[in-house]
Amino acid sequence: MTDRSTPRTTNDAGIPIQSDEHSLTIGRDGPIVLNDHYLIEQMANFNRERIPERQPHAKGSGAFGHFETTGDVTAYTKAKLFQPGAKVDTAIRFSTVAGESGSPDTWRDPRGFSVKFYTEEGNFDMVGNNTPIFFIRDPMKFQHFIRSQKRRADNGLRDHDMQWDFWTLSPESAHQVTYLMGDRGIPKTWREMNGYSSHTYSLVSAKGEKFWVKFHFKTDLGDGNAYFSQADADTMAGKDGDFHRRDLFNAIDQGEHPSWTLFWQVMPYEDAKTYRINPFDLTKIWPHADYPLIEVGKLTLTRNPTDFHSEIEQLAFEPNNMVPGVGLSPDKMLLARGFSYADAHRARLGVNYKQIPVNRPVAPVHSYSTAGAMRIEKATDPVYAPNSYGGPAAERDPYEAGIWQADGEMVREAYTLRADDDDWSQAGTLVREVMDDAARGRLVENVVSHLCDGVSEKVLQRAFEYWRNIDAETGRKVEEGVRSKLGGASKAAGMGSARSIRDTSHSN
Ligand code: HEM
Repeated sequence: MTDRSTPRTTNDAGIPIQSDEHSLTIGRDGPIVLNDHYLIEQMANFNRERIPERQPHAKGSGAFGHFETTGDVTAYTKAKLFQPGAKVDTAIRFSTVAGESGSPDTWRDPRGFSVKFYTEEGNFDMVGNNTPIFFIRDPMKFQHFIRSQKRRADNGLRDHDMQWDFWTLSPESAHQVTYLMGDRGIPKTWREMNGYSSHTYSLVSAKGEKFWVKFHFKTDLGDGNAYFSQADADTMAGKDGDFHRRDLFNAIDQGEHPSWTLFWQVMPYEDAKTYRINPFDLTKIWPHADYPLIEVGKLTLTRNPTDFHSEIEQLAFEPNNMVPGVGLSPDKMLLARGFSYADAHRARLGVNYKQIPVNRPVAPVHSYSTAGAMRIEKATDPVYAPNSYGGPAAERDPYEAGIWQADGEMVREAYTLRADDDDWSQAGTLVREVMDDAARGRLVENVVSHLCDGVSEKVLQRAFEYWRNIDAETGRKVEEGVRSKLGGASKAAGMGSARSIRDTSHSN
């Protein structure tokens, strides 16, 4: 007897179907017929259930909640979401960078920290990480960097030799690699880690005054440094590869709502021209003594997804989603990201991805985009501008954020160096002044075991120099540790087979 307290199964067209268990056959023992449309629909749907995973940041999860502005930052921005008392809904996604969608949560990696604010002025996305800086400062290197963290072409394996090869040939990575090899490389839970814009953004006030800003989301649970030791993370990877995902889901499910306090570091517009560090270089922090933290508001997560695929896998963040009052900056990485994400969404989710409910703004949309695959919203005439038929009309904002002065010849060159712009100092300060003895000990231990795992002798030599440049003492300990563990020179071959891969492309 069917329990009629549950609804009757239908196919995707809403038509009642005859059996959840048996396909239509000619006689009990005979062949299946092609007109069992429901069987075919089930098989066809199953074959199309997977969409491509995100290229980087494939493994992660998220939740929903709200952000409330508790401070008064009206002097810096006219954005409505940052006016005192404003409250907006939010979606958040945490992630690892290099691992695939099924990879363990506790692999050493930076963690993504993406927040979507659904505001009355449109969606505002802050797509940051759990560290305030990044490995590189020019987007030309981003794709190469990510490939060096992913898998080799020949054996499909991740490879520490490839990772250190890239890092040691890219000294601007030193600051972020120091974070990565330290405790923040494996956070205990997502709830206990901080999030950062990392980049510098721009702000404009209602009076038209411009500022530069960095975002800091500080966890309200501890100091933002709760971590797993490498050994415990390795054990957890085997025991529960989804540990971070599970922890977040269970906490919210049990009513323990994680929260973060948002702070800003604000730099007056003119300071950027003369500050001793290039304020748009993503590999650098601004010392808090120069630009102290200003409290802005609170982000709280209160609701879990009920359909992971439609609410988290299809959740699409893009750094170009800036509302009036907040804008991009001359950071070359940020400007490139302003293109890259929307392009990734069009490729992964389709051109109308902003109509997927989780991406849909709460603000009314009056754009001239029309048609395209999977379009759901109806377009209305006129579908062109300018027009004399009452279509939407744009209005110039005299105080537009993200607008600054630039002049000069077109070049392919690094940022102009300022007095304190070098690749090693801030990494050295992190080791000497932010870490204590125990944290420095763990840093050396983590680097030594990472370097003893398949790194070739020539890359090792560069890695020792890299760490000596960051901090002489740390460099010495790393070299000593590696030599004693390996009992001499490294026997790892490195990318010895790469030549043969290339050679085959020239043969039949
Ligand atoms: C994800 C590109 C730098 C944080 C992604 C994705 C792309 C991408 C294509 C996948 C998007 C998707 O399919 O949904 C780039 C490029 C960069 C860059 C071209 C530099 C030029 C950064 C930096 C940060 C960052 C500096 C942090 C400060 C993230 C995060 C995600 C992500 C958190 C995951 C978003 C999510 O949760 O859906 N990036 N990225 N990326 N990136 Fe970047």
